[in-house]
Amino acid sequence: MKVLVLGGDGFCGWPCCVNLAEAGHDVVMVDNLSRRKIDVDLGVESLTPIATVSDRLRAWEETGGRAIRFVGLDIAQDYQLLLELLRSERPEAVVHFAEQRAAPYSMKSSTTKRYTVDNNVNGTHNLLCAIVESGLDIHIVHLGTMGVYGYGSHRGATIPEGYLTVEVPQADGSRFREKILHPTDPGSVYHMTKTLDQLLFYYYNKNDGIRVTDLHQGIVWGTNTDLTDRDPRLVNRFDYDGDYGTVLNRFLMQAAIGYPLTVHGTGGQTRAFIHIRDSVKCVELAIDHPPSSGEKVRIYNQMTESHKVKDLAEKVAAVTGAQVSHLPNPRKEAIENDLIVDNRCLIELGLKPTTLEDGLLSEVVDVARRWADRCDRSRIPCVSTWTTTQAAALKATV
Ligand SMILES: NC(=O)c1ccc[n+]([C@@H]2O[C@H](COP(=O)([O-])OP(=O)(O)OC[C@H]3O[C@@H](n4cnc5c(N)ncnc54)[C@H](O)[C@@H]3O)[C@@H](O)[C@H]2O)c1
Repeated sequence: MKVLVLGGDGFCGWPCCVNLAEAGHDVVMVDNLSRRKIDVDLGVESLTPIATVSDRLRAWEETGGRAIRFVGLDIAQDYQLLLELLRSERPEAVVHFAEQRAAPYSMKSSTTKRYTVDNNVNGTHNLLCAIVESGLDIHIVHLGTMGVYGYGSHRGATIPEGYLTVEVPQADGSRFREKILHPTDPGSVYHMTKTLDQLLFYYYNKNDGIRVTDLHQGIVWGTNTDLTDRDPRLVNRFDYDGDYGTVLNRFLMQAAIGYPLTVHGTGGQTRAFIHIRDSVKCVELAIDHPPSSGEKVRIYNQMTESHKVKDLAEKVAAVTGAQVSHLPNPRKEAIENDLIVDNRCLIELGLKPTTLEDGLLSEVVDVARRWADRCDRSRIPCVSTWTTTQAAALKATV
């Protein structure tokens, strides 16, 4: 199958590209390399030394991989080029990773808030418009986030896969049942863009019959897959800084360099997780099982387990002997929350969940130890704050 992977140079996108190529798909990687440019702007680098796109692709072919082509294009700005690309490549599926994906970065300043909205909402809308204008029947597989459901209390209710069945009371006392999109509750500008994506998909699916699978993904941890482990030039990126580093990978990296694990607030925040190998597998499953014509947007909860942040810190400390430090929370969020999630769809399609076990945690610590000398410790603290209240609390501790 011909597959376009938008954002294919990123943390989730790169292992996905090689996995799809290995599975026999004809893969075209599309990226504007904005993530690499943001690293330059922030003055940080991936902990792992990532090769240039051309070196990655050459190494992939030299190690026996099926060729992947690269197209440099900004999907949020270059509408005509995107449309021409769809017309010339005629893909059967487009995997859409191409968004600014860090909540802290999206809250850093008015500039980054506006950039995140412009980039993410325009990019998704351009893709939908271009598919309609091309007249092609293309299945979109989009990477959304579990964060669209919000991290407040769900009062013990299980979060369904995208749709909630509600009973609507009528004036005559009767009730009818309806399946609606689960209410959204974004906790950052970044998460807000993902909730807007959901509405865009809903509308274009209803109006134009565009087939969409929206993967509400948990926080991805781990670094490499068997394929990116094949050659040092294929190594995946590893973000550890306060804006782009995600909680579990940060803990593992902090443990590797002897930095106390940074638990913000009570640590009672519960989040959903998935290992990078499972993330890649889920995208492949979604491509292989497209919605049929006329089917409403499919939503899968792409996560394998939920944990409280403080429990994760304790687990990493037990495996590595690291210290834990409790810091003010830069985010405006519930001090703790529950998160019970239905994730049966992907499991029924064949996902065999990789769960948090000591061997895999140690594997990431080993990767981090290997590149510890590349770490800039001054970039570890989280400095982007949600409002001036959190900024003041953070400042008081410095
Ligand atoms: N990493 C996670 O833990 C996680 C969790 C849940 C959801 N997701 C979602 O998965 C997707 C990929 O995340 P990631 O961690 O790989 O992020 P990433 O930043 O590493 O990768 C995103 C890629 O998209 C590219 N890109 C961004 N805007 C673009 C544009 N306008 N045109 C072309 N390319 C563009 C970037 O250069 C980058 O290579 C995102 O949409 C993110 O919201 C990620």
